[in-house]
Amino acid sequence: MTSDQPIQALGGLSAREFLRDYWQKKPLLVRQAFSGYASPLSPDELAGLSLEEDVESRIVLEHGTTSWELRRGPFDEQTYSTLPEQDWTLLVQAVDQWVPEVADLTRQFDFLPNWRIDDVMISYAAPGGGVGPHFDSYDVFLLQTQGRRRWRIGQMCATDTALLEHGDLKILADFQQTEEWVLEPGDMLYLPPRLAHFGTAVDECMTCSIGFRAPSAAEVLTHFTDFLAQFVSDEERYADPDLQPAEDPYQIQTDALDRLKALLAEHMGDERLLLTWFGQFMTEPRYPERIVGAELEADELAQAIDEGAVLVRHPSARMAWSEVDIGLLLFASGQSTLLPTHLKDLLKLICAAESLHAGNLAAWLKDPDAAELLHQLVKQGSLEFADE
Ligand code: SIN
Ligand code: CO
Repeated sequence: MTSDQPIQALGGLSAREFLRDYWQKKPLLVRQAFSGYASPLSPDELAGLSLEEDVESRIVLEHGTTSWELRRGPFDEQTYSTLPEQDWTLLVQAVDQWVPEVADLTRQFDFLPNWRIDDVMISYAAPGGGVGPHFDSYDVFLLQTQGRRRWRIGQMCATDTALLEHGDLKILADFQQTEEWVLEPGDMLYLPPRLAHFGTAVDECMTCSIGFRAPSAAEVLTHFTDFLAQFVSDEERYADPDLQPAEDPYQIQTDALDRLKALLAEHMGDERLLLTWFGQFMTEPRYPERIVGAELEADELAQAIDEGAVLVRHPSARMAWSEVDIGLLLFASGQSTLLPTHLKDLLKLICAAESLHAGNLAAWLKDPDAAELLHQLVKQGSLEFADE
């Protein structure tokens, strides 16, 4: 795919046009972005997921015990038999990690960096259901997969935008509508971060939200400096061998600031460490506890692949790769490995392939660096054997 080809999911815009004119800037409504796309799971299956201990789910009732009542899952069968006929919605997070067909949907967003994708949330709403007018800090694509939903969009918000006094939900005190559309199955709406929006189900409906992740500046600063600090010895300190006689012993002079700035610049300016940290941070899994590696020896793995075993990415694992001056970096679920440059095509394959097997790995299995890498990834759990 080249960046100038029309993309159906973007209504015929190319990646270049979408990124230039809409991404992080303004909303885009695409009628029939996914024409004929059938919801990968039924409302009952979604409700079923919300009963599971490990699944993150919420129900929002517009007229509950409070207005916009938030209930957190896991729920039980009882929950659903006591809900009203209308004005409530069920939201299930990271369905892509539980339902492979939903994970496949994220492949349609290959015109964006994969490591920017966070998860696919799916909502089911009874007629009139919604979560109220609000804004999110992240980009989102809202794909209508069943029934109709009215989306109203409003003003661009900021951290100081007035909210209703509500313990759990961030509902806007003042929603200034600019446009509205009724989305039918297959239609999709892209919303940039901080744009006020308000979805309400026209009839019973389901919506897939493909959400993105972006660290806050505060997260970048705290996490990167924590990461850097591991590599700095306690002996390295503020030093002032160039100290000049003080005019006033109580004054902190600007030369002290210059020494601090030099100290910070020396460490913060290390591009290889910045990239290493960023790759690890962006591939950190949402549910790291789900990724448990397998105990096996390198030759056992090689033999299994020889005999037809198939490896797949763990549904909770995240992968990315990058180039540095001294080689390649593979990021897998929050960890990084420095690798020789001749493995570039293997890294691309590991990140993108739906499965790895003797067929597509053939050329690599004889390469000791490649075999070792595959072994590490299976031991770490980012790759696992496919179920037969
Ligand atoms: C929903 O799908 O019901 C809510 C999605 C959102 O507005 O963020
Ligand atoms: Co939202």
